[in-house]
Amino acid sequence: MADATSPLLDKKSFVVIAGASRGLGKSIATKLVTELPRTSFFLFLARNNATLEALAGDLMTSHPGVRIGWRKFDQGILEQNIFDTLLVDVLKEYELKVDDFEQSVIVHNCATVGDVSKWAWEMTEVTPLQKFFEINVTGMILLNSAFLKTFGKTKSRLVVNITSDNSKIPYPSMSVYCASKAARDMFFRVMVAEDPSIRVLSYSPGPCDTDLLAYTRDTCTSKDLGGDLKNFYSEGKVLSCDTSIDKLIAFLKKNTFKNAEYVEYYDPL
Ligand SMILES: NC(=O)c1ccc[n+]([C@@H]2O[C@H](COP(=O)([O-])OP(=O)(O)OC[C@H]3O[C@@H](n4cnc5c(N)ncnc54)[C@H](OP(=O)(O)O)[C@@H]3O)[C@@H](O)[C@H]2O)c1
Repeated sequence: MADATSPLLDKKSFVVIAGASRGLGKSIATKLVTELPRTSFFLFLARNNATLEALAGDLMTSHPGVRIGWRKFDQGILEQNIFDTLLVDVLKEYELKVDDFEQSVIVHNCATVGDVSKWAWEMTEVTPLQKFFEINVTGMILLNSAFLKTFGKTKSRLVVNITSDNSKIPYPSMSVYCASKAARDMFFRVMVAEDPSIRVLSYSPGPCDTDLLAYTRDTCTSKDLGGDLKNFYSEGKVLSCDTSIDKLIAFLKKNTFKNAEYVEYYDPL
């Protein structure tokens, strides 16, 4: 069991990172490859296979001996067969067994911000709204279940849910993003109520310099939010991904966070 006393980053782990191709996910991938034992195996997921391959290649060069696989994966394509076979096929391809690992880890970093150009009452179109929740919520739940089904027998299971203060604060222009982040957080709170042996860190990284934040700054319909984000950039309050993910790593190392409760970059360790 991955309880609040056992170290999390010294175990030989099978690690899945959803949304590893850029932004915070790329930083998470790089830091976890550096911190976890070299005998661990990493699986990078995102839609852009070429970017994943390049990142994996760089990390395998800078960390000789580490094993990294990558798969083109669109979390918004909800086909049963994809979720049923993804991890089983990777284990087969790399000739790995679940028993080879002391710990299994999944990082749910993948998310999209959705249409921030509309107010909440303008969310009238079925298809984009459905697709948004399929990526941010339903696909994440299905990937999480596939992971726990495959790695149910590992002694230690760790889930990192990359959340946001949007799960708590109603930012105008960001109705569906806020709703999706709140849904994810509650999903994991229920999961650990059902099975406290699964360790969950819901980490909110703070405002980080990524495509997602720049897109929100440039396209959100709320002038107040757009102005605040522009000021954040000009005043140097936007964090680098590495700075925020160093703190995530520190929370994991300390391993005293409350299971599945919201933890943010600005919290003391
Ligand atoms: N940046 C911030 O200030 C901030 C603040 C709070 C929370 N967050 C959270 O941090 C996480 C990462 O955000 P970010 O800012 O790094 O965003 P980003 O730069 O837009 O990166 C998003 C990642 O998710 C992947 N992705 C997007 N749609 C996907 C799909 N349909 N299927 C599979 N992968 C998909 C992207 O890869 P591909 O395009 O290759 O698929 C990319 O790797 C998100 O959960 C976000 O909500 C960010």
